[in-house]
Amino acid sequence: MLFNDRRIGGALLVVVGGASAQLYPGQSNLNHSCILQEPLLSCPPQNPSVVDSCCVETFGGLLLTTQFWDTYTGREKEGQLLPKDVWSLHGLWPDFCNGSYTQYCDLSRQYDPIPSPKTVDGTPNGTPVPPYTGPNIGTFLEPFGKLDLLKWMNTYWIAQNQDNAGFWGHEFSKHATCYSTFNKACYGPKYQEHEEVVGFFETTIKYYKKVPTFDWLKKASIKPSNSTTYTFKDIQKTLAKKHGGVPYIGCSGPLYNTTKEGYGGSDTGKTVLTEVWYYNYAYGRPQDGNTIPVDATGSNTNCAKAKHAIHYYERTEGSEKKPTVPY
Ligand SMILES: *[C@@H]1O[C@H](CO)[C@@H](O)[C@H](O)[C@H]1NC(C)=O
Ligand SMILES: *[C@@H]1O[C@H](CO)[C@@H](O)[C@H](O)[C@H]1NC(C)=O
Ligand SMILES: *[C@@H]1O[C@H](CO)[C@@H](O)[C@H](O)[C@H]1NC(C)=O
Ligand SMILES: *[C@@H]1O[C@H](CO)[C@@H](O)[C@H](O)[C@H]1NC(C)=O
Repeated sequence: MLFNDRRIGGALLVVVGGASAQLYPGQSNLNHSCILQEPLLSCPPQNPSVVDSCCVETFGGLLLTTQFWDTYTGREKEGQLLPKDVWSLHGLWPDFCNGSYTQYCDLSRQYDPIPSPKTVDGTPNGTPVPPYTGPNIGTFLEPFGKLDLLKWMNTYWIAQNQDNAGFWGHEFSKHATCYSTFNKACYGPKYQEHEEVVGFFETTIKYYKKVPTFDWLKKASIKPSNSTTYTFKDIQKTLAKKHGGVPYIGCSGPLYNTTKEGYGGSDTGKTVLTEVWYYNYAYGRPQDGNTIPVDATGSNTNCAKAKHAIHYYERTEGSEKKPTVPY
């Protein structure tokens, strides 16, 4: 199973005709001087017929900056390694303000080689998302001369059981195509092909840098260990305090009620710390990074709550390396 498919939070909402119809009425490639648009907050949702939806996010205004703690990549032989002492980057997702979301909103920008799900609405009879077979999305950076960005992404934006660029293509096409503010028209008459892809990657990185999960946990003496276990409440408290909003904390692995300590009990949460999603609203364009932290919508974890129930595992030997480009 691909780790990039672990989406268990908000409900998937199907926007009729979302894959082809115009999602952002009135957007042309003219007149998006965002300096002229008051940088309004993205939630509660702004009305796109009143504000410029290229300058204020009017579609997916609840921004989730998401990270993984993986212990291996499955592609160590190819040199695909995790960054030592850093949680790796997952993505930047545009949820609706109420916590539901859409995906694969523009199939003309489908760069995901392994679509997941395989249809836009996730049902067997839904509109198929055709697997992408062209040059990988990493190559889109080359005409812009952004080789430093590519190197950074190959250091911190790491896939599991898939090549990194395939994963970036997944993140872009599944999620970024749903933003009103990353639509091609917003980039004006001189739009250069894939400009918004570069913009999305840069924005995602900007958000990721604000939430150094590894360091935050370390300062609270919560460090990867194969001999100690931790308590969910301590992890949650630490990250919520640093971020300013309660994040979603995701666990994998065995249910606590199937482990020796919790056997047969009422705590049926999972026991291996693997991901975190930080929630934000943005003022004006998400690209500008003027955000305010908010609490996760809906359930904020699937982890076990019992004392010392959580493993925060050390990575497998040989699966990580010390980054040579700064975080
Ligand atoms: C752009 O703005 C000009 C000046 O207000 C206006 O005449 C024109 O119709 C606008 N174009 C579009 C596509 O909205
Ligand atoms: C959530 O918001 C979206 C977008 O505004 C809307 O289409 C959807 O019906 C809402 N869902 C719920 C459960 O309120
Ligand atoms: C643990 O919880 C799950 C989910 O509620 C349940 O299906 C399973 O039977 C439980 N296992 C044990 C050993 O209690
Ligand atoms: C720590 O434990 C995890 C889970 O069993 C394992 O995958 C990893 O290789 C271990 N790391 C070390 C350094 O032993």
